[in-house]
Amino acid sequence: MLTEMMRKAEHEMVVCNACRYCEAYCPVFQAMEQRVTFQPADLTYLANLCHNCGECLYACQYAPPHEFNIDVPRTLSRVRVESYESFAWPSFAAVAFRRPWTATIVALIAGVLICAPVARTFTVRATGQSADFYNVIRHDVMVTLFGVVGLFAVAAIAIGHRRFAGIASHEGSRYGELGPRQRATRDVLTLRHLHATGEDCVDGEEQRQPWRRWLHHCTFYGFALCLASTTVAAIYHAVFGWVAPYAYTSAPVALGTVGGLGLVIGPAGLLALDLRRDPALTHASERALGFAFLTILLLTSVTGLLLLALRERPYMPMLLVIHLAIVLALFITFPYGKFVHGVYRGAALLKFRREESV
Ligand code: HEM
Ligand code: SF4
Ligand code: SF4
Repeated sequence: MLTEMMRKAEHEMVVCNACRYCEAYCPVFQAMEQRVTFQPADLTYLANLCHNCGECLYACQYAPPHEFNIDVPRTLSRVRVESYESFAWPSFAAVAFRRPWTATIVALIAGVLICAPVARTFTVRATGQSADFYNVIRHDVMVTLFGVVGLFAVAAIAIGHRRFAGIASHEGSRYGELGPRQRATRDVLTLRHLHATGEDCVDGEEQRQPWRRWLHHCTFYGFALCLASTTVAAIYHAVFGWVAPYAYTSAPVALGTVGGLGLVIGPAGLLALDLRRDPALTHASERALGFAFLTILLLTSVTGLLLLALRERPYMPMLLVIHLAIVLALFITFPYGKFVHGVYRGAALLKFRREESV
């Protein structure tokens, strides 16, 4: 279905395809040049390929206040959010993309309502006691809770990805598939297209800084290290029978501490940066999604690090319940918030590299 914003995006792509001034800036313009008409599927693909670097707004001679009103970053930003909504599963949950703060608060309340009743205590008697997390919430209860919610989130994201891949699939030959996959992986891991021309992306007119990319790296790799920490801890428990809490020097704690610090520095820095970024670059709906996601990531990492530092204090059980409630809320909102940008953008980058290799 062609929404009002898609009509605007279609108009802008037709103008850009005639103008081509920005063709060297990023893959969006290169992919655009491969097309003569722009169907909703093309616009969805191009919107998810855009990294919102902002370059093409300040370069454009037809940008507002010009009557053509061309603002490619903002238009594609809105089309991107519309695509997140259209791929959501179950479909009624798409409402969460329209009200990200309400969705986050509802998920946090659900997290507390689920975690608090399964806690066996909220304080321990003496300071300096070794932190026995499973005395607060039983290990099997924790695994069941996070296993069920985690599997649901993975299934919902996988269905969304399938829906996106359905419209953005590339019919061309898969010969040499390894090359496109490697290039797309490198694009993801380096965020190459946030500085595609070699220069850093812009936060405002004449404001070129590397911070957005570096802070995203802190967030992305911090998140990956926290996942690695949980995975190693699960292997320790299930394979070796080593039960938490682990020493401060152990692999799970070291990975979680470095990852947690990345997840504090990255989201806090991005929040500060976003508040000052030119609002003309991003649609308000995507800004709200970003702020809500950054806030819940920050809550997760801060409470996680506090729990680590204060794990031998009497109020450890209370802190554990709060932290787990926030993590559960994060899991619940994964398929219905900003997190999905990584999945769709990764798929769009792979499609771009495939098209390029034909
Ligand atoms: C395929 C992997 C990923 C790619 C290519 C990617 C790329 C990007 C890009 C280009 C932006 C800026 C444009 C926008 O706001 O949409 C962005 C924003 C963001 N990304 Fe990612 N990302 C990926 C995965 C992740 C992951 C795994 C996380 C954290 C769990 C993450 C956290 C964020 C956050 C919090 C923002 C919003 C920042 C802001 O508002 O400025 N990203 N991402
Ligand atoms: S954004 Fe403006 S300058 Fe760039 S290609 Fe489009 S119309 Fe031309
Ligand atoms: S904002 Fe950046 S990534 Fe998006 S279309 Fe413009 S130049 Fe390309």
